[in-house]
Amino acid sequence: MVYKTVEVLGTVPEIGIELDREKETGMEIQIRYYSQTGNTRKLAEAIAQTIHISAETIEKPIKEKTDLLFLGGAMYAFGLDPKLKAYIKNLDKDKVKKAAVFCDSALMRSVGNKIVKLLKEKDIPVCNDIFYCKGQYKGTAKGHPDKNDMENVKEFAASMIKNM
Ligand SMILES: Cc1cc2nc3c(=O)[nH]c(=O)nc-3n(C[C@H](O)[C@H](O)[C@H](O)COP(=O)(O)O)c2cc1C
Repeated sequence: MVYKTVEVLGTVPEIGIELDREKETGMEIQIRYYSQTGNTRKLAEAIAQTIHISAETIEKPIKEKTDLLFLGGAMYAFGLDPKLKAYIKNLDKDKVKKAAVFCDSALMRSVGNKIVKLLKEKDIPVCNDIFYCKGQYKGTAKGHPDKNDMENVKEFAASMIKNM
């Protein structure tokens, strides 16, 4: 989906309301995620909200040439789910110019590096910053991703786009 920014045109002084309009950047951005219990989906949706495009699961193929792919996943039984692994292995390198990884786990931070490793094996360039936060699993990391995590992932998304 083409990413749009909101351009502030000015303020109507009498009522203090800002006039704005959506401006197309021409940048093609996609969000894909794999989520078993909903935590990674929440992060994906926060990114989607920030950049005004929809977040899709890895079931939805990438058809257009994409400038930036936000790819999200989590840790299960010390590794990535085979479905996410297969998805990355089958990504078309010519369709994805760059990827930005967001991820979560109850404890293990290495999840992001696992995703990055697979992307690099496909020769897909990856943004240096990886977004990571805790994700609740039973009694561990209760309440995560929390409000703070959601704000942080939004900031991460905005900064990845700015640095493109
Ligand atoms: C079946 C299962 C296995 C998990 N194994 C691990 C693990 O090995 N290490 C870890 O840090 N977290 C583990 N977790 C926690 C998840 O990584 C964490 O809850 C994450 O936020 C789940 O993302 P999701 O809700 O998008 O599926 C596991 C969660 C589930 C459901």
